[in-house]
Amino acid sequence: MAFPSGDDASTDWWRSAVIYQIYPRSFADSDGDGVGDLPGITSRLDDLEHLGVDAVWLSPFYRSPQHDAGYDVADFCDVDPLFGTLEDFDAMATRAHDLGMRVIVDIVPNHSSSDHAWFQAALAAGPGSPERARYIFREGKGEGGELPPNDWRSVFGGPAWTRVVEPDGALGQWYLHLFDSSQPDLDWTREEVRADFDDILRFWLARGVDGFRVDVAHGLVKAPGLPDYTVEQRAAAAEGDPAAQSPHFAQEGVHEIWRRWHDVVAEFGPDRILVAEAWVQPLTRMAHWVRPDEMHQAFNFAYLMTAWDVAELREIIDDSLSSFGSVGAPSTWVLSNHDVVRHATRLALTAPNPQGHGLGPDSPGLPQVDHGIRRARAATLLMLALPGGAYLYQGEELGLPEALEIPGDARQDPTWARTQGERFGRDGCRVPIPWEADAPAYGFSPSGDSWLPQPADWAPFARDSQRGRESSTLELYRAALGLRKAHGLGTGDLTWVDAAEGVLALDNGDVRVVANVSGDDIPLADLSGEVLIASEELDGALPADTTVWLRRG
Ligand code: NOJ
Repeated sequence: MAFPSGDDASTDWWRSAVIYQIYPRSFADSDGDGVGDLPGITSRLDDLEHLGVDAVWLSPFYRSPQHDAGYDVADFCDVDPLFGTLEDFDAMATRAHDLGMRVIVDIVPNHSSSDHAWFQAALAAGPGSPERARYIFREGKGEGGELPPNDWRSVFGGPAWTRVVEPDGALGQWYLHLFDSSQPDLDWTREEVRADFDDILRFWLARGVDGFRVDVAHGLVKAPGLPDYTVEQRAAAAEGDPAAQSPHFAQEGVHEIWRRWHDVVAEFGPDRILVAEAWVQPLTRMAHWVRPDEMHQAFNFAYLMTAWDVAELREIIDDSLSSFGSVGAPSTWVLSNHDVVRHATRLALTAPNPQGHGLGPDSPGLPQVDHGIRRARAATLLMLALPGGAYLYQGEELGLPEALEIPGDARQDPTWARTQGERFGRDGCRVPIPWEADAPAYGFSPSGDSWLPQPADWAPFARDSQRGRESSTLELYRAALGLRKAHGLGTGDLTWVDAAEGVLALDNGDVRVVANVSGDDIPLADLSGEVLIASEELDGALPADTTVWLRRG
């Protein structure tokens, strides 16, 4: 069932929407197998409506052997039995629409699972076949082809190439996988690949989805000839040198694909959208993904990666508004997702933690849990005051910190195995979320099973422990979302206001937002106006790591 179309304003819903990411494996499990599922999601949608979000985005629930938690898709048009059936999907989407929430689904076009029928056919058909042409197979280097075709590295660690055994039993060609070896990259220079994905988009649009979050939207097209990406180039790129462009990410050629997708999505109405998951820097370049005839939104990872620091925050907010604004797109804001350390831990870390490395119990620079949560609440209240769209990740409304105590043999992120335990990976932000303090698996699963172990001290984070408790993080989010809507902050304009050192102050419509990013309390006399909401109790001062919204006098 499609979302009931409304007036012109409703076609622009995404420009200011708050979109809540559901990670299906870890949201709610209805059948007790320890993995969340679609009926579980349906049963908990009322809680999201109560929270006040405009839309949900679901990470993949498609048929998959689950080597990368479903981002390894074996059938793009079916639901994995682990998560339910297509009918369960329809029931979930109908319920969400009935509650007034849009539904965005993930789509993973850069690669398929190695279990996909396309890849299995490619393996069976052998070198030079049209079946192999769907993927990126190459001969190896060296006398016997024993070396990979180039020096590219997998994002999860190790080489980005795997050699296959040919149908005749001999070692043969290599295939490219920018992620796990179970995720072969598709060859997007091929028209049949493009045409198949047009149909996949139409399949889900016809089922009523309101849009797609597009995985690895900076991938898909590789530099012609697949040139090496030298250590020096990688180091220069890591330092932010835009000239040291990766030969496998952010290639110009991806844009014609997004223009094509834009048209396919538009066939189903002006309110269906595409959201880019693209790790591209700087933001002026990222803005190319959201030109008027390409995608509608892109995740603002530059904002997510910004430290809790006044100067850096101000600069990234300005940059975001001007870069996205220069192409007529709204900025987005995001602090957490299923790939990054939860912001209730990340923003208070005191040691560097490169993206994707994750955290364990003895990682350096871990903050006190309360300190991290306090900072996260302040950061969220700042984010929700900014004009544009905002993304929330399940569990952040409960103030969940990163789960650190996951034994090695329970870890599932391929990063952990591919780096022989050198990087913890992303499991710490993916632990099933707590609903009920006193129920098995905190109400996640009726059997008490959980595909990743839940920390023993999560009862206070459970939704039922927080609901109706005024000072709870859940009620802070709920109140902030209500006020954001009531004051039109998502569609507003931002003006900076002079403030004391260590303090960020801005006006958006009739709301003044003051974030104390410094370590010192600020006397409340400096703040005029009625307090609408504050991330901590004020008690005569604006304490450190606290954000307040005031009604402007
Ligand atoms: C980005 C997704 O968010 C991540 O979880 C996944 O591992 C990679 N893309 C590969 O699909």
